Amino acid sequence: MFTSTSTINLLFGFLCLILGTTHAAAFPTTETPISTIYQFEKGSWLENLAVGPTDDSILATRVDGPYLYRIHLPANPHANASTELVHTFSHFQSLAGITEYEPNAFAVIAGNLSLTDLAPGNFSIYSVRFPNDPPPHHHHPVVQKITDLPNSQFFLNGMTTLATCEEGEEESTVLFCDSLTGRVYRLSPQTGIYGLVLEDSTMKPSQPGNLGVNGIRTVTIGHDTYLYYDNSDTTTINRVRIDPATGRATGPYTTLARGHFADDLVFDHETGDVYVAAQKDNVLVRVTPDGHEAVVAGAPDRLTVAGPTSAVFGKGRQSRTLYVTTTGGSAAPINGTLTEGAKLMAFQVDCL
Ligand SMILES: *[C@@H]1O[C@H](CO)[C@@H](O)[C@H](O)[C@H]1NC(C)=O
Ligand SMILES: *[C@@H]1O[C@H](CO)[C@@H](O)[C@H](O)[C@H]1NC(C)=O
Ligand SMILES: *[C@@H]1O[C@H](CO)[C@@H](O)[C@H](O)[C@H]1NC(C)=O
Ligand SMILES: *[C@@H]1O[C@H](CO)[C@@H](O)[C@H](O)[C@H]1NC(C)=O
Repeated sequence: MFTSTSTINLLFGFLCLILGTTHAAAFPTTETPISTIYQFEKGSWLENLAVGPTDDSILATRVDGPYLYRIHLPANPHANASTELVHTFSHFQSLAGITEYEPNAFAVIAGNLSLTDLAPGNFSIYSVRFPNDPPPHHHHPVVQKITDLPNSQFFLNGMTTLATCEEGEEESTVLFCDSLTGRVYRLSPQTGIYGLVLEDSTMKPSQPGNLGVNGIRTVTIGHDTYLYYDNSDTTTINRVRIDPATGRATGPYTTLARGHFADDLVFDHETGDVYVAAQKDNVLVRVTPDGHEAVVAGAPDRLTVAGPTSAVFGKGRQSRTLYVTTTGGSAAPINGTLTEGAKLMAFQVDCL
């Protein structure tokens, strides 16, 4: 079902090649295949992101502080992006996964994530709702707690939306994962009720205390719904067919590829490829539908893509742009010593 786009990709590939050799002068509005949209100060760590609340902005979470930022994408490649601190989640030290569960409403994981000691702790999940009316540029959202996950049992990480109210449902459903126990839970942002729905050996770390399931993404292919997920410790990319209402498994847990310490991942609906933020290898990886895995940007000894943490596709005109957050190398410094400020990067995927 993905063959119809291959000619488009070839065409884009050809254009990218020409651009690469003649410089942008002849095509002044074309963006370069890899660019940095915004860089935070040294010591920062961006953990996850979502497009919104408008198509021309990105919400990004930080691990080194309880900060949710909105990054306004520049109108043209020569302008600078601007950022806005949307909310500080006091009483927490870190934020993790974020997902849009209704138009302009986002679920955000808050907790105390230690970057060195991967111990379970107390987490909460919040709702961050932006006004639906034509948003004044700096209008602040309403922030409300959805639920606490207490008793120091959890190490929450990735989050994805399974169903939105928009699709005729009365409640939305999000899925979130616990990296230490290798489990995926379902949560209703409207009621705060949550429960375990997926647990499998492919989600667990190879030894206690390591990070297992990390990035999770709901993907619909034809009539089937899958959860794509990676496991940082076992370096695998996997998927399982799930029930679109309950989130429970309706097929086998299948490993698609292995080889990189993966943080989050994203599915390309045009090609069937999966893009993986291979955090500790400082590279962006592409996994094709037949399981072939290849580095498409960055290098272990380069700052180019230093510590990629998550990736999402843009919306509207930017639907072929992949936005990627980084740690700046905080977890695994380049060449053992080099770090930089966390970045929001943009990749033109058809040019990689
Ligand atoms: C963008 O930011 C850089 C660094 O702060 C500055 O030197 C440059 O003039 C800015 N460019 C525009 C178009 O504002
Ligand atoms: C989690 O919360 C409980 C109850 O408030 C507290 O006793 C415990 O120390 C907390 N755990 C951590 C890791 O902060
Ligand atoms: C996080 O750590 C701070 C400072 O140690 C503490 O006050 C707070 O209760 C902790 N929060 C959670 C959710 O464990
Ligand atoms: C890391 O070390 C390698 C080998 O010495 C060198 O080629 C590379 O330029 C270094 N990376 C950076 C970002 O300095």
